[in-house]
Amino acid sequence: MIVAIDGPAASGKGTLARRIAKHFGLTYLDTGSLYRTVACAMLADGLDPHDAEAAHHTAETLDLKRFEDAQLRTIAVGEAASVVAAMPKVRQALLELQRTVASTPPGAVLDGRDIGTVVCPDADVKLFVTASPEERARRRHLELQAGGDVQTYDLVLEQLRIRDRRDAERSEAPLKPAEDAVLLDTSELDIEAAFQAAVEIVSGKR
Ligand code: C5P
Repeated sequence: MIVAIDGPAASGKGTLARRIAKHFGLTYLDTGSLYRTVACAMLADGLDPHDAEAAHHTAETLDLKRFEDAQLRTIAVGEAASVVAAMPKVRQALLELQRTVASTPPGAVLDGRDIGTVVCPDADVKLFVTASPEERARRRHLELQAGGDVQTYDLVLEQLRIRDRRDAERSEAPLKPAEDAVLLDTSELDIEAAFQAAVEIVSGKR
């Protein structure tokens, strides 16, 4: 069984995907962390994330264990991740790994931007998780604060909007719901309510 969970930054899709995977006994893959690792490696090695050749080489020789989660979750890395994620060769280099995880028994929950549209178009269940930009910025702001990253709410909101726009407007695998995706708006839902709603959708499609 393959569950595809897509949505914009900080929509709550990661938390949902992790819990859905645990609940149904599936592997979980946070595909954003792949793009974040490419970006983080480039920044750490003094490379410019806009350099497509360097980004391609970094993606092809990626060491997924090089960074801790906290290093990948900063605003700067998220921003650079969306720059490298717009490059077709970078996406191509990361595609096979994602499909291998998805097709390995017992199956997997993958979260990202293009899982239902490009990576796993035949997924058994497709969810598109959204929330208002203000609510997403509020959540991301709290998350960053908890990790000791001091940013103003306004800056977090502005960065989210820039990243959403870049992800949705790129020509390669843009952020958009698959035609057969179920939309789940979590603006008014807490984590528990969103999880229950997602469990019902997955159970119904099984
Ligand atoms: O989900 P997360 O915010 O960690 O993703 C970081 C960036 O990686 C996104 O802004 C997006 O540009 C890119 N990404 C993508 N396709 C995916 C997952 C993430 O383009 N499947």
